[in-house]
Amino acid sequence: MNKQQLETTAQAMVAKGKGILAMDESTGTCAKRFAKQGIEFSFESRRAYRSLLVTTPKLSDHIAGAILFDETIRQQVTGSDTPIPEYMAAHGIIPGIKVDMGAKPLAGHPGEVVTEGLDGLRERLAEYREMGARFAKWRAVITIGDELPTPACIQANAHALARYAALVQDAGLVPIVEPEVLMDGRHTIEQCYVVTAVTLHTVFAELFQQGVHLEGIVLKPSMVIAGKECPQRAAPEQVAAETVRCLRNHVPAAVPGIAFLSGGQTDAEATRHLSLINQQGHLPWALTFSYGRALQQEALAAWDGREANIPTAQAALYRRAGLVGAAATGNYSPEMEER
Ligand code: G3H
Repeated sequence: MNKQQLETTAQAMVAKGKGILAMDESTGTCAKRFAKQGIEFSFESRRAYRSLLVTTPKLSDHIAGAILFDETIRQQVTGSDTPIPEYMAAHGIIPGIKVDMGAKPLAGHPGEVVTEGLDGLRERLAEYREMGARFAKWRAVITIGDELPTPACIQANAHALARYAALVQDAGLVPIVEPEVLMDGRHTIEQCYVVTAVTLHTVFAELFQQGVHLEGIVLKPSMVIAGKECPQRAAPEQVAAETVRCLRNHVPAAVPGIAFLSGGQTDAEATRHLSLINQQGHLPWALTFSYGRALQQEALAAWDGREANIPTAQAALYRRAGLVGAAATGNYSPEMEER
């Protein structure tokens, strides 16, 4: 393992005022998002959409890296022979790759899932590195509900995350370690705090056990926030304060960066929360974004599957990336949404 190289990549992924574009939706998730907009779903339309995203002019002003899906890393930019990862690298965006095979039902634990994909991962990583990937992503999913999550679910997911992270570093890539506590449900922010705390604690114990080099990872957590159906909404200031309190208590200072997922928050919410998080005083890590929906929603709607709309869609992506980039330094205010 070349530790220095991993550290340099990890730091570049969370460079000041920049974050990561998550555009690694599986084919199934992509189908749902396209269907919602009434966009035709095909190999070519997925390629056109992903090409639109990565060719957005000056995207690297605010985006340090982008996470691709297996299909996308093998595609060429629409209308050219240039492989998508090659185009990205040439335009200052580090290519990354989602390597997990999705969350599957956890045996013996109804309502819970465990992320799979360790089998054959070493070989897949070697191939992805060859194709230009410099970091990887694995998403573990923790559900809050009656009597959930169970210790078995947290432990199984944390162990898999650590096994994945060790393999990824061995292959010379930076692992994004993503333990997502879902926003689905009626749980309060206090319940979310406890579950996130236990999850992070377990994940870092497992990372330590597997010998993962913490200076060469990026953590991708969810924020500490009330469930979507919780009647008591937490104020944005409380979300920021509780998120930072949880991270301070459970994430080692050696980790170079924390890049949040948006997890179903609206674009404006995810942007505001990130900015407030960055206003919480001096912290040991860069605190930035690795948003999927909160970066792409406006662009996807603007595109609507039509070639003529590409410039408008790219302008929407660039604008949102600029706002979230400002949030990554604590310099966003909601009035900026109106400009
Ligand atoms: O794994 C989750 C994605 O990379 C982030 O997506 O920001 O829409 O939650 P999201």
